[in-house]
Amino acid sequence: MRIFSGIQPTGRKHLGNYIGAIRQYVEGQDRGDPAIFCIVDLHAITVSYEPAVLRERVYDTTAILLAAGLDPERCILFRQGDVHEHTELCWLLSSVTAIGELNRMHQFRDKSLAQRELVSSGLLFYPVLQAADVLAYKAQEVPVGEDQREHLELMRDVARRFNSRFAPEDGEILVVPEHRIPEVGARIMDLQEPTRKMSTTGGTPEGTVYVLDEPKAIEKKFKRAVTDSGNEIVKDPEKPGVSNLIDILAAARGTTPAAVEEEMRTARGYGDLKVAAADAVRDMLSPVRERYEELRGDEEALETALETGAEKARAIAAQTLAEVRDAMGVGPRR
Ligand code: TYM
Repeated sequence: MRIFSGIQPTGRKHLGNYIGAIRQYVEGQDRGDPAIFCIVDLHAITVSYEPAVLRERVYDTTAILLAAGLDPERCILFRQGDVHEHTELCWLLSSVTAIGELNRMHQFRDKSLAQRELVSSGLLFYPVLQAADVLAYKAQEVPVGEDQREHLELMRDVARRFNSRFAPEDGEILVVPEHRIPEVGARIMDLQEPTRKMSTTGGTPEGTVYVLDEPKAIEKKFKRAVTDSGNEIVKDPEKPGVSNLIDILAAARGTTPAAVEEEMRTARGYGDLKVAAADAVRDMLSPVRERYEELRGDEEALETALETGAEKARAIAAQTLAEVRDAMGVGPRR
C-alpha cells in the first residue's frame, strides 16, 4: 500500500490541518510501504510570497510534522522542489488535463479572487502539479481534509485519461488514487465564523487555533468561540458553532460526535462544551509544541532529513517518469 500526501509550507499550521490531515499522516506511516509526505514549496509560490520566508516556513513545517510524530526512518519526508520529477510530470500531465476543468476548481476561484496583485497561471496549474505529486509515486491512498476532495477527483480523472490514451491495453501505467478523508474533523470550522473553514489565509485570527499556540491562547480562543442560540448540545446544521465544537472535541478525544452529545447531556450549557474542547485540544497540541521547540533549533538536522527524504523519493518518482516518457514518445526509446 502506497500512501502519499502533501502539505503547504505556511509554517503556521492550524487545528484543521492537524486533525484533518497531519494525524492521518502519522497513522499512515505504519501502513505505507513506506508512506510518503511532501512539503509543497512549489505550490506555495503560486500566490504572493517572500523567498526568504518560504525557506524558513519549509523548516517550520518540517519541524511540526516531526514533532507530530512523523519519523524519517519509517516514512519518506521531503521538499517538493528537491525532486524535479514533479514539475516534469506536471507538464506531461497537462496534455491530458482540460483548461475547463482547472477553471472550475473552487480553490482556484477562491484564491484568484483573493489575490490583490497578479493571478498567476501557476494558480490555475496548481491541481495538475498536485496530481503529479501523487501519481509520480503510484500512490493508492491520499489522506486529506474535505477541502481537497475536488483536487483528488481531478487527479483520478487525469490518471484515467492518461491510462486510456497512453497505457497498453493489457495494463495501466498510472494508479488511480483514493482519498482518505477522516470521518470526524474533515472540515474544522473557524471558531469565530463557524460557517467558514478554519484557514491560515481566509479565517479570523481569533477563530484560528494554531498547532503552536500557547495553552493560554488556546483556552482564550475556545472561551470566545461563537455558539448559537438555545442551549442544547447537539449537532445540527442550524447550530454551526456548537456542531464544530462537538466535532473538535470528538476528534481530539478520538471518539464520536454522538458520544460527545451523550456525555454533554448533563452539561450546564455551552460553557462546559467550550471548556472540554479547550482542554482536549490543549492536551493534544501541547506535546507537539514542546517537541517543535526542540527540533526547530537545529536547522541542519532538518535539512539533512529533507535531503535524505528527497533521495528516496527521487528513486521512486524517476521510475514512473521513465515509464510515462516512454509511453508518451518523449525522449529516446528505452
Ligand atoms: P494545505 O497545506 O492547505 O492543507 C494541508 C491539509 O490540511 C487539510 N485541511 C483541513 N482539514 C480539516 N479542516 C480544515 N479546516 C482544514 N484546512 C486544511 C487539507 O485538506 C490538507 O489535507 N493542496 C494541498 C497540498 C498538496 C497535496 C498534494 C495534498 C499538494 N500536493 C498531494 C495531497 C496530495 C493543500 O493546499 O494543503
